[in-house]
Amino acid sequence: MTWGEPSAGVRPIVVFGSLNQDVRLASSRIARPGETIGDASMTLRWGGKGANQAVAAARLGGEVLLVSAVGDDSIGRAALADLDAEGVDRRHVRAVAEAPTGTAVVIVDAAGDNAITVAPGANAAVSADDLAAVLGEVPAGVLVTCFELPIDAVRTAVGHAAAAGWEVIVNPAPAADPLVGEWPDGCLFTPNAHELVALTGTTDVERAARQLAAQVNGTVVATLGAEGAVVVSNDRVEWVAAPRAAAVDTTGAGDTFNGALAWCRARGMDIVEAVRVAVVAASASTEHEGAREGMPTLEQLTARSDPGRPARAADGGGPS
Ligand code: RIB
Repeated sequence: MTWGEPSAGVRPIVVFGSLNQDVRLASSRIARPGETIGDASMTLRWGGKGANQAVAAARLGGEVLLVSAVGDDSIGRAALADLDAEGVDRRHVRAVAEAPTGTAVVIVDAAGDNAITVAPGANAAVSADDLAAVLGEVPAGVLVTCFELPIDAVRTAVGHAAAAGWEVIVNPAPAADPLVGEWPDGCLFTPNAHELVALTGTTDVERAARQLAAQVNGTVVATLGAEGAVVVSNDRVEWVAAPRAAAVDTTGAGDTFNGALAWCRARGMDIVEAVRVAVVAASASTEHEGAREGMPTLEQLTARSDPGRPARAADGGGPS
């Protein structure tokens, strides 16, 4: 099987997630508390972990529907037009009157690392009912969700989707606290290294991933930036290396990973093979500025799968 040929029928992808306008400040470094740095350049871009994940899967040719919300304003309308241009089905992105479109201030330093602060705005109005409407319409496929929506809505929506036979990818980003509440068995959790520590209180990556996999009775794929990823379930631990990348901006690398992972799973790929592909996609995304600009098309992804390319990262880039 090549990456372009599914093993059987292709399942639909639904992303239940956030949409933001990113105010991106490229600066020499990230200011410390109380400090002012005056050397940044500013650009406005589209972002939000959910919308980014949807775009990443659509760039690869996936059939993707986004469930989210924007403000009922010119920024919201422009965000919807951008989703149209990306080929994402946005009929279930609601325009809400009570809040503006979500906004993220993304500060990127000279090394390509970032610090992000989000004002959720309309994202806070998204509810599990918004997804329930879609589950009745679309045949069961792959659901991707993240923690930039109200957490109760996410947990309820995941429960509904799993009960309806959907494969669920939970990207617990951002995560600042231990994971609580009931999650249905069999979900795939995709924290980065920081999130893994926050969710489990354990610093050793493999031990933390085993702990989380046991807690959710599912699979954990921990994304480790330039070090690639590790897949952990009850009976399996597999480390996947990231290819070399000339990283300039890691913003959106994790979103690219999750979108590509969903695309692979929708096409019937085994989890470890899917993670291998998603790591390559995330690595590619770091070579361009902005959350979405470097997300590869299928053609670009296939070109990067050349087995002659170095297997281990030397200068950064990968899913984080
Ligand atoms: O993961 C990157 C995204 O996080 C940005 O696009 C920003 O909007 C925040 O949601």
